Amino acid sequence: MKTVIVIGANGKIGQAAMKGLGKHRVITASRSGNGCDHQVDITDKASLHALFAKVGKFDAVVSAAGHCEYASFESMTDDQWQATIQSKLVGQMNIVKVGLDYIEDGGSFTLISGILDIKPMPQGIADATTSGAIDTFVKCVAFELPRGIRINAVNPTVIEEAWEVYGEMMPGYQPVPGALVGKAFERCVDSFITGQVIVVDA
Ligand SMILES: NC(=O)c1ccc[n+]([C@@H]2O[C@H](COP(=O)([O-])OP(=O)(O)OC[C@H]3O[C@@H](n4cnc5c(N)ncnc54)[C@H](OP(=O)(O)O)[C@@H]3O)[C@@H](O)[C@H]2O)c1
Repeated sequence: MKTVIVIGANGKIGQAAMKGLGKHRVITASRSGNGCDHQVDITDKASLHALFAKVGKFDAVVSAAGHCEYASFESMTDDQWQATIQSKLVGQMNIVKVGLDYIEDGGSFTLISGILDIKPMPQGIADATTSGAIDTFVKCVAFELPRGIRINAVNPTVIEEAWEVYGEMMPGYQPVPGALVGKAFERCVDSFITGQVIVVDA
């Protein structure tokens, strides 16, 4: 049994990730802290230091956190770009940068990206761009991580549990059950893989 911190645990993807982590001791966190063990803001390194110090020893961090703005490229404002980049990209990189000071030898980080960098859709440019950046970050930084620490990304299509929110924007996409995405997170935490992007698509 590993101790796994799930950030974004109360979100749609966070709930899917938890389905694959049942055999572990899971500690939950999110920006609001609603329904979670801890509150954390991944855009604030001090907040991440406080979380990891409070938790103490842990073997894995799963990130299901990130906010994306949806608009066409021509109408997307600088604030919308910044909000998405700071949350989905820089926020998740912060988790790794700060987490390295605390995580156990042989531990793992698993980040969330998303299918739009592979299958673009209208209004999805900020999500697609930051998802592509996360996939690249994971593939490259894996070579630099010390102490046998691993890193991977889960890149899912829309999940059935979120179809109500995104379905109208995504004609022609086939949602997958959250439990299947949970399996991808499970593999990242429990296997020996590193520098991988696990695509979960129908
Ligand atoms: N839903 C899908 O089908 C799907 C598919 C592929 C990829 N993704 C990606 O997965 C990620 C999460 O999506 P979701 O659908 O699960 O969204 P969601 O239901 O809105 O959940 C977002 C989660 O992220 C947390 N969060 C947001 N900003 C944060 C911050 N600054 N610090 C800490 N936690 C923060 C939220 O915490 P609070 O609720 O406490 O604010 C919540 O737990 C996004 O990057 C999305 O693009 C989603």
